[in-house]
Order: sequence, then structure tokens, then C-alpha cells
Amino acid sequence: MTALLEVEDLRVAYGKIEAVKGISFSVEAGQVVTLIGTNGAGKTTTLRTLSGLLTPLGGAIRFNGKPLSGVPAHKIVALGLAHSPEGRHIFPRLTIAENLQLGAFLRKDADGIAADIRKVYDLFPILGERRTQAAGTLSGGEQQMLAMGRALMSRPKLLMLDEPSMGLSPIMMQKIMQTIAELKAQGTTILLVEQNAQAALSLADHGHVMEIGKIVLSGSGETLLHDESVRKAYLGED
Ligand SMILES: Nc1ncnc2c1ncn2[C@@H]1O[C@H](COP(=O)(O)OP(=O)(O)O)[C@@H](O)[C@H]1O
Ligand SMILES: [Mg+2]
Repeated sequence: MTALLEVEDLRVAYGKIEAVKGISFSVEAGQVVTLIGTNGAGKTTTLRTLSGLLTPLGGAIRFNGKPLSGVPAHKIVALGLAHSPEGRHIFPRLTIAENLQLGAFLRKDADGIAADIRKVYDLFPILGERRTQAAGTLSGGEQQMLAMGRALMSRPKLLMLDEPSMGLSPIMMQKIMQTIAELKAQGTTILLVEQNAQAALSLADHGHVMEIGKIVLSGSGETLLHDESVRKAYLGED
């Protein structure tokens, strides 16, 4: 069986500066795969390229068997690849319900959309309670829930999450990670970018460690969690 997402020798540059220097990895349906690594490693650049927001310098991306080269971002969403971006980027003046509706902007099945909004409220009851409130009034953790919910509204085959735990309190972070585990248990395929290596590796089937544009180490989540160099560099041990 071929993987749902295959990335081969991907290279991405900003002008003359190469931020992603030839990385290869894949995500099988049903898996959680994580990219970890310090600030500036190229994780966000990788996700933005997969979403069609940046044009690669070289390499190949295949999603569900189709090459994504030259496919515009909205078509990539329609193919089933959703992106919850770093920094969340919710629409603060719109209500929670309106933000979720926007996640379904390519769909026309009103009944299906309404059912999926209810599913998001089941996953995150606080969003349901506050559905008519402006999204800007939510706490950081709640805005993260909304960003994840909005990405789910396109019914993705692959959900990409960029630093969902960033800036959150330990309790809120735990809650977000529990939700990712719940989505995984429901069979959602997830590509998770995190600086919180411990949390991400504990959840992930596979992990890749990125350093200045390259993948320097790959393995099962379990293996990387116990790898000495990973523990020293990312889990604060010496
Ligand atoms: N819009 C941009 N213009 C120029 N350089 C950028 C831009 N965005 C990111 N970079 C650079 O690309 C590299 C990778 O950044 P990024 O993908 O955001 O890393 P990460 O998400 O792993 O922290 C960094 O050196 C960063 O400074
Ligand atoms: Mg980033």
C-alpha cells in the first residue's frame, strides 16, 4: 500500500535562503506522524509547502497518489489536506460558529456541515457553549480548539497541526494533546508539528527530528522518546 502522504527530497527557499534542504518522509493512513525540532528548523515551512502556500524549489509531494506540484491551495484542501496553522489565525470578530462555517467553505452539503459542527462541539464542548460569541474573546487554548475544529470542518483525510500547544498553560496543553489522542483513536490521520517533543512523541507512531532544514533522525515515537540524543537536545536532560 502506498502512503497517504509521500514527501520526497523536498526543498524550499525564501529567496536565496534554503529553509528546507531535501527532506523525505511519509504518512500512512491512520497514523500520527510528528516533526519535532527547535525554532527555525523548517517545520512550518514544510507544512506551508504541503498546503500549497509556498512553492517548492525541488522534490515531490504526493497526496493520496496524486502529485501536488502546481495544485493551488484551495484545491489541496478539496483533496483532503487541512492545515491548522501556527498562531491559529482564527477570525476574531466572527463568532465561533462562523469561524467553523468558514472551515467548510468548499462544501455545499448543509446537513453534513451542520452535523460536523455538532461533532466539533462534542469534541470541544466549550466551543458549543460559546458558539455565538466573537472568537477573539476566547482564551488562547480555546482559540487553538477553534483552529483545530475549523480544520476538521473540511473533513480532511490528513490533518496538519502546527504547534497546537504553543503558548498554552500546562493544563490546556494536556487537554489539546488529549484531543489529538482522541482524534487518532477515531482514525484521523495527523501530521503534528511540535516543539513539545515529549508530548508529541508520546502520541506519535513515527517521528522525525528536524535541524536547520534537514531530517537528522527518524524512528517510532517510542524509540525517539527514549533516544539519548533526543532526550538531551529536546527533553532537557543532560
Ligand atoms: N517568510 C520568511 N521569509 C524569510 N525567511 C523565513 C520566512 N519564514 C521562515 N523563514 C526562515 O526559514 C527558516 C525555517 O523557519 P520555519 O519553517 O518557520 O521553522 P520552524 O517552524 O521549524 O520554527 C528559519 O531560518 C526562518 O528564519
Ligand atoms: Mg514553526
